[in-house]
Amino acid sequence: MKDVMEIRVDKTTNSKIAEVDFDNLPFGKIFSDHMFVMDYANGEWKDLRITPYQNIEISPANSTLHYGQTIFEGLKAYKAENGEILVFRPGANLDRLNKSAQRMCMPEIPKELFIEALKKLIDIDRAWVPGKEGQTLYIRPFMFATDEFIGIRPSDTYRFIIFTCPVANYYNKPVRVKIEEHYSRAGQGGLGFAKTAANYAASLYPAKQAQKQGYDQLIWTNSGSHEFIEESGTMNVMFRINDTLITPASNDSILRSITRMSVVEIAKHWGYKVEERKVSVDEVIAAIKDGSLKEAFGLGTAATVAHIESLSYRDEDFDLPPIEQREFSNKVADYLNAYKRGLEEDVFAWNIRV
Ligand code: PLP
Ligand code: COI
Repeated sequence: MKDVMEIRVDKTTNSKIAEVDFDNLPFGKIFSDHMFVMDYANGEWKDLRITPYQNIEISPANSTLHYGQTIFEGLKAYKAENGEILVFRPGANLDRLNKSAQRMCMPEIPKELFIEALKKLIDIDRAWVPGKEGQTLYIRPFMFATDEFIGIRPSDTYRFIIFTCPVANYYNKPVRVKIEEHYSRAGQGGLGFAKTAANYAASLYPAKQAQKQGYDQLIWTNSGSHEFIEESGTMNVMFRINDTLITPASNDSILRSITRMSVVEIAKHWGYKVEERKVSVDEVIAAIKDGSLKEAFGLGTAATVAHIESLSYRDEDFDLPPIEQREFSNKVADYLNAYKRGLEEDVFAWNIRV
């Protein structure tokens, strides 16, 4: 392992940080000065390096461009009051990246290597971690095939990169969602649980149609019968019906959200009743109609805890209870935000310090 861990560093002499307006950060358009890169060939990861953030050159015959053999992750780093930087559950992201890798016939990444690379990159660009409320450093690790070959088979070679962006919140207001019954994001036995480009590609057209109708996001249902709620475009979903928190259990067509896993653990720790199971559309609509649905929200790294303001089903728009009355989601959003910034005790051992 010791040779593999050696990371070469080539620092930029031309930092862009002075050009960034940290009071007006967009999501995902500004990139920090450096990136981590490594290549896979002959069964091993090699040439570990931190370089200036820059374009990459690939062949027109690069197999990723044609067949989509690529996976990614999204996680965040937060600035604590004492100036330390805290990364939230990077090990969980690596576990999911490796599950995606397996499904996509790609090589896994050893945990020690990933955490070392991440810490070193964040440390070099620590000035890029914004500190204002609602701001974080979004971290995007990704891997793609690099074979120059247009036959259909898994690539023999890969590149893995981590770059980072200072960001503000992805949603700055509660979201309006529509339950989708025609299109599917992922099917049984497909790629839904993997964080791979194909799932996002499949979602673009239906999401665009919904946006044209005035909705922010879709809620996907199971392909085929469309009876059960799966997840939303960039987040898993949770409902509070009376005093019980209900969330669709992970399956092979849902991305297993680390934010949702965390909220489930917190809720149980606080003594809430949590059910991870199949959630039918009928159950949710009935709970809206009889007033037992108290809260509905999305959970994701970029989205954080996103209140669902209204839900549309079969051309009927249902307004959900006022945001200020949503006791659980408001409380857990505040707690999680404080936790990630080191303002709460790290009782679950989720924060990694840089
Ligand atoms: N579902 C999808 C499709 C996503 O893109 C994301 C974002 O990563 C999530 C759920 C939420 O997962 P996490 O909380 O791990 O970010
Ligand atoms: C996430 O990391 O939360 C995503 O899925 C990415 C996207 C919303 C930018």
